[in-house]
Amino acid sequence: MSLIDKAIAAVTPPESKAARTKARAKAREIATPGSWFEMALNQHLEIEAAFEAVKKAKTHDARRSAQKRLATLLTGHAIAEEAVIYPAMASHGEKMRTELAYQEQSAAKGETAALEELDPLSEDYADKLEHIRGAVAHHVYEEEGTWFVKLHENASAETKARLTRRFKEEFVRYMGEDAIRAAA
Ligand SMILES: [Fe+2]
Repeated sequence: MSLIDKAIAAVTPPESKAARTKARAKAREIATPGSWFEMALNQHLEIEAAFEAVKKAKTHDARRSAQKRLATLLTGHAIAEEAVIYPAMASHGEKMRTELAYQEQSAAKGETAALEELDPLSEDYADKLEHIRGAVAHHVYEEEGTWFVKLHENASAETKARLTRRFKEEFVRYMGEDAIRAAA
C-alpha cells in the first residue's frame, strides 16, 4: 500500500484535531487579507462545510445534490492550487512536498468520483465519504501547517501578488464570480 493509499484508507487523520486547529489559527494570523493564502483558507472552510452538508443530507436526492456541490468545490479548489500554488511551491525549493500534494489531490478526486457509483444512503457510501473527509483534512493540515506557510515566507512580495491574482483567476474560471464573492 502506497503512502497515499494509506492516507485515503485511514478515516482519522494522523494529526490530532487540536494540532489542526492550532495550525489553522497560525495560518490565519499570517495570511494577508485578500491574498491567495487567505482565499485558500476560506475555501478549506467551505469544503469542510460541504462535507458536513453531504453527511447531514437525509434523502437520496439531497445527498446526491450535496455531493455534487462538494465535488465541484473540491475540483475548483484543486485546479486553482494545482495550476498556481503547487508550481510555486516547487519553484521555491519544495519539489518533494509538491509531488505529494499533487498525488494526494489526485487520490481524493478519484475517491470522490467513486462516490457516484455507490448508493448514497448505503453504509459503503458513508464509509467512503468519511475516508475522503479524513484524507482531505490531513491534506489541508499539511497545506495550512507547513506547505503554504513556507511558500508565504519564501516568496517575494511580487510573487505573492501574482499568486493572488492567478489563484483567484483559476478558481473563478471554474466556479464563477459568485463563488469568490461568497468566499471573500
Ligand atoms: Fe487546499
